[in-house]
Amino acid sequence: MRAANTTLWDPLVRLFHWSIALIFIANYFFNEAGDDWHQWLGYVAVAWLVVRSLWGFMGGKGAARWADFFPTPARLAVHTKALLRGEAYHRMGHSPLGALVMLLMMLGIFLLGVTGYMLEEVDYFWGEQWVEDVHEWIANSVMALVVVHVSAALFESYRLKENLPLSMITGKRRPLD
Ligand code: HEM
Ligand code: HEM
Repeated sequence: MRAANTTLWDPLVRLFHWSIALIFIANYFFNEAGDDWHQWLGYVAVAWLVVRSLWGFMGGKGAARWADFFPTPARLAVHTKALLRGEAYHRMGHSPLGALVMLLMMLGIFLLGVTGYMLEEVDYFWGEQWVEDVHEWIANSVMALVVVHVSAALFESYRLKENLPLSMITGKRRPLD
């Protein structure tokens, strides 16, 4: 018989996840000349990034901590080799490649806040075409990462026969066999 599912993602991690996911999608598709909603939602996402980053140093649960999953070159090498050999890689927490994509998405959303601020609030850059182009390019790059992220979550769910997106809602995951 299987052991009961264990709690992996604490409420702050889950609230952070679905907040930035919704904000990113909303701002990606609704950006009419950067209206007020677009700007404020963008800043809320940046505030979430700060909270989540601090939580990575002091969060109660191990899996929320940077030290638990930070994608060091050594960890990335182990994960990549396992993938190339077609071997399963299963751990209670972020995988190294998953964590790398996570960091890139977070960096991209942060830079959207910075370039958005430049476009709106800094006279020197106001209405500058190149800043708009950079803002748009970053938004498209984060969208590409989101596609990779969601595909990986679905693919790993299929491979592990476990609903990983559900774990980001309930916080629970099946313990390792
Ligand atoms: C749309 C924009 C999205 C963004 C920007 C995003 C970003 C992130 C980030 C930053 C994390 C790390 C969470 C943390 O430790 O705090 C994460 C984890 C996760 N996300 Fe997303 N996400 C998005 C959409 C989705 C969707 C639609 C799904 C489900 C299909 C999903 C499934 C997951 C899962 C399962 C994890 C945990 C991964 C693991 O087990 O290591 N995400 N996501
Ligand atoms: C999650 C964060 C954000 C995302 C995903 C996002 C995404 C986008 C996208 C896709 C566009 C359309 C680009 C184009 O086709 O020209 C856009 C435009 C714009 N964004 Fe953002 N953005 C974010 C945050 C912000 C923030 C924080 C601000 C300002 C405080 C901002 C200000 C603007 C402005 C002023 C435009 C209009 C540029 C124009 O006139 O075409 N954005 N954004």
